[in-house]
Amino acid sequence: MALIERAATKASGYAAGSLLTVADLAVVEVAAILAATDRLGRMAGVDRARVLAGRRIALLFYESSTRTRTSFELAAKSLGAITTLVSDKSSSIEKGESLKDTGLTLRALGAECIILRHANSGAPYLLAKATGLPVLNAGDGMHEHPSQALLDLRTILARLPGIDAGRIDAKTLAGVTVVITGDILHSRVARSNAMLLPKIGAKVLLCGPKELLPEDALGLGYARTTGGLEIERDFDKALKQAQVVMMLRIQRERLAGLELDLADYISRYQLNEERLAACAPEAVVMHPGPMIRGLEIAGEVADGPNSAIEDQVRHGLAVRTALLMRALGVGGFESVMV
Ligand code: CP
Repeated sequence: MALIERAATKASGYAAGSLLTVADLAVVEVAAILAATDRLGRMAGVDRARVLAGRRIALLFYESSTRTRTSFELAAKSLGAITTLVSDKSSSIEKGESLKDTGLTLRALGAECIILRHANSGAPYLLAKATGLPVLNAGDGMHEHPSQALLDLRTILARLPGIDAGRIDAKTLAGVTVVITGDILHSRVARSNAMLLPKIGAKVLLCGPKELLPEDALGLGYARTTGGLEIERDFDKALKQAQVVMMLRIQRERLAGLELDLADYISRYQLNEERLAACAPEAVVMHPGPMIRGLEIAGEVADGPNSAIEDQVRHGLAVRTALLMRALGVGGFESVMV
């Protein structure tokens, strides 16, 4: 039996409980996070509200967010924590205060953990180093969105038949193909999922035109050494292999300079009812949001029986309770016995 020290980030110099990248998460830690999510879900609300009673958590958001910000905040409050939101739009950040000084200010005010969304890749590392606090990466530029990948994993485990969701190991998703389609070049969600899901045994098939999916995407993380990550540019062919299809938003704000014909993109890559029925009638349909109906996904598919999009949001709230507990070192995350 091995004792794994408190689920600390592998990269030294960052506070234990930080979650900066899924690359640092061992499978046993993923299992511990999902087990804690389940335990919290079974607790009575009154007991849950004692888990982080009075602990101070800061949400620091330099980019817009609906799902991530709200679910982290509701998760923290459901555990009894005190939360404060600092947004770039209504704080001294507008006056030019740096990320480091904002973080040090939050620490001086008693924050014990900071949840950071930032447009710059790597910003959570800087904040974690500067403050010494546990930092949860809530999406940094085009780098990563680790809590999204964890909630996506929990959604997949819950939706696919015949999976033992209570037993997470390197083979749990063996035989499952997850197709990720869209703007993979700019997507932190694709990056985190492409690194996490193969660790649990899934094959990830990236799909999109070369403008949005460069060949070097195959070099991502864990999959580089183990396989588990492939490219298929024909969406219909990819869908025919899919148990899960994850659609990504076309980020119009990032398309400048790219030669992408949106009408052509829609005809080749939009997930619509006809394509889903013809190629993958049983596939679980996912989208991290925000989605652009009529562009990457047809409204009928988003609202249809295959859609797990609202489930993803619910799993996000649940998984983030466990991540907060882990960040603050309570609830079994002081040490994980395997
Ligand atoms: N999935 C996601 O990150 O959504 P938000 O931008 O609304 O947080």
